[in-house]
Amino acid sequence: MKALILVGGYGTRLRPLTLTVPKPIVDFANKPMIIHQIEALKDAGCDEVVLAINYQPKVMMDFLKEWETKLAIKITCSQEKEPMGTAGPLALANEILNDGSGTPFFVLNSDVICDFPLKEMLAFHKKTGAEGTILVTQVEDPSKYGVVVMDESCKVERFVEKPKVFVGDKINAGIYCLSPAVLDRIEMRPTSIEKETFPLICRDGKLFAFTLPGYWMDVGQPKDYLTGLQLHLASLRRSHPDQLASGPEYVGNVIVHPSAKIGKDCKIGPNVSIGIGCELENGVRVANAVLLHRVKVKDFARVADSIIGWGSSVGRWARIDNKSVIGEDVHVKDEVFLNGTIVLPHKELKETVLDQGTII
Ligand code: GDD
Ligand code: MG
Repeated sequence: MKALILVGGYGTRLRPLTLTVPKPIVDFANKPMIIHQIEALKDAGCDEVVLAINYQPKVMMDFLKEWETKLAIKITCSQEKEPMGTAGPLALANEILNDGSGTPFFVLNSDVICDFPLKEMLAFHKKTGAEGTILVTQVEDPSKYGVVVMDESCKVERFVEKPKVFVGDKINAGIYCLSPAVLDRIEMRPTSIEKETFPLICRDGKLFAFTLPGYWMDVGQPKDYLTGLQLHLASLRRSHPDQLASGPEYVGNVIVHPSAKIGKDCKIGPNVSIGIGCELENGVRVANAVLLHRVKVKDFARVADSIIGWGSSVGRWARIDNKSVIGEDVHVKDEVFLNGTIVLPHKELKETVLDQGTII
């Protein structure tokens, strides 16, 4: 079985992290986002994943070489000369996705995280005889998503991308199971699966919705990334509690890479991930936050509701709070307080920044 992951866009909403690496290889819970997806696809029986890329393909493919061997799955690249939208890339990869056997394939947005119930979704797709099955989930604010209205047999009646008025709160989770017949509907041009293809399949009564059991998040922006981490760790607590850190210094759900060093009298958690080679000195407090790889946090510093980029450091008694996102190789000096600050890579910060949303 084949799968295609839509890896387009510049990941601007996850800057400054995406100034260092493309969005799909930003770590989420100590593993690149896209690896969570590729592992799930492999588990569901996929033997080849096509990455539909229009930006930095070499960086992505070089990075994924090692994973291709590790996960024993073929990873190929379908490169666009111009952004082809969310459906155009399927036309471009038509020959790989349609091998003539009629086997359905998966399509994933690259920034979604969930329990990936792909096997169940495939079984549902086959049972209903759908041409397309959309994974759906319920959210409080549906306006920034594609909204799916379905009948009691789960047949989709309407698909409305980014609705201006309320049409429902079940949304497209950005994961599809499609039969090759869908490819006949997609022209070779930049086009949107949400705005053009789904309404067509829906009109013919061949679009179905599979409701996602468990958590879901589009982790393409910092606030949602942190919420997604919280949901993911809570799910790990239920499924693989052994992967969570335990000990007197940990509160709630925390993952710590085995290579990280944690000093005395630290208090870490809840909802924290600590990456490869991080070093926390003594009395450090971290809550609802992410330390990507090789971050150093000095004595008595505090990091809350924030993300700290690769190789950065936080000085003694410093405080980073309130949805700050610190890029790669940033050095925050002792006693500095950052309040909702976005810091671009390779900086040294000597002064406190109180104005929320400041970009440095
Ligand atoms: N290859 C390629 N080329 N990929 C693209 C392109 C392109 O031109 N444009 C966007 N993508 C990829 C993005 O990288 C992402 O993985 C996916 O297509 C969706 O684009 P986003 O920019 O993340 O869209 P969104 O988050 O506003 O909305 C989409 O996702 C929601 C769920 O998170 C839609 O599919 C909504 O219907 C859905 O609810
Ligand atoms: Mg998105």
